[in-house]
Amino acid sequence: MQNVTEHYASDGLTARILESLIAGGVDQRAIDECTVDPDVLAGADEFHLGGRAATEQIVSAVGASTHAPRRILDVGSGIGGSARRLARSLQCQVSGIDLTAEFVETAAAVSEVVGASEATDFAVGSATNIPFDPDTFDAVTMFHVGMNIEAKTEMASEFARVVRPSGAIVIYDIMRVGEGEITFPVPWATSSESSFVATPADYGEVLESAGFVNLAVADQRDLVLAVMKATSEGPPNPVNLGVVMGSEFPTMIKNLMRLVHASVLSPIMITATAPGEA
Ligand SMILES: C[S@@+](CC[C@H](N)C(=O)[O-])C[C@H]1O[C@@H](n2cnc3c(N)ncnc32)[C@H](O)[C@@H]1O
Repeated sequence: MQNVTEHYASDGLTARILESLIAGGVDQRAIDECTVDPDVLAGADEFHLGGRAATEQIVSAVGASTHAPRRILDVGSGIGGSARRLARSLQCQVSGIDLTAEFVETAAAVSEVVGASEATDFAVGSATNIPFDPDTFDAVTMFHVGMNIEAKTEMASEFARVVRPSGAIVIYDIMRVGEGEITFPVPWATSSESSFVATPADYGEVLESAGFVNLAVADQRDLVLAVMKATSEGPPNPVNLGVVMGSEFPTMIKNLMRLVHASVLSPIMITATAPGEA
């Protein structure tokens, strides 16, 4: 786990994000008055392939499987972009947990400047030991985190414990869809020591063993490729994931996209339902 947090953590993250907002044209007064437009942050606070467009798919999937959710848990919430989006679109409370303390701190700070502090809360916590009581959430989401989790059986049983009967889970992870070596670094790891990429069938097996039903698998490759193309053709955005991950990020994303183009890895969304009556 230390490898994971060392990979993601860096000093001064909140200050760098705020500086990038200023560089992107945000007025200092909007920061001081906590009225920054949350959409301006999408280039940096949606740390998964497909960015905001992919998050919208997850928002729709949660909305379709849980009627008017009141509480959602976002596991591995990073700096909180997806949690804020879920809270805004579904008008509910979203709690985020993440192993990396610096990300948790920045998530709370960013929620403040966009005026989302009441609808979102963040805490340090692990997907395999979730710091909440049983049946607390109407839905559990997880974006691009499972690649760092070796103990997926424990992860699935923790999801089953904290989601209420007939609640929804939506996992959106990079999964293995073909043969081929992973070239490091990739956005989630600098070496194989902290990379635990699995197939959709592996996820299906642990989720069904934990009791989940109605599994549906959707490959988001086409959406991701369209978003990458549009981003590369658009103007440079100072609010980007390099601000979060540093100068190696372009190499990480290049290695990942080569594997996606070669159909070795793909961004896969899995939805499932917890058993029982609501
Ligand atoms: C690629 S980032 C994705 C962040 C966020 N979900 C998003 O899409 O913007 C992966 C995140 O997972 C967190 N993480 C990795 N393993 C974890 C675990 N076992 N439990 C909780 N968080 C974890 C990392 O600290 C990091 O913030």
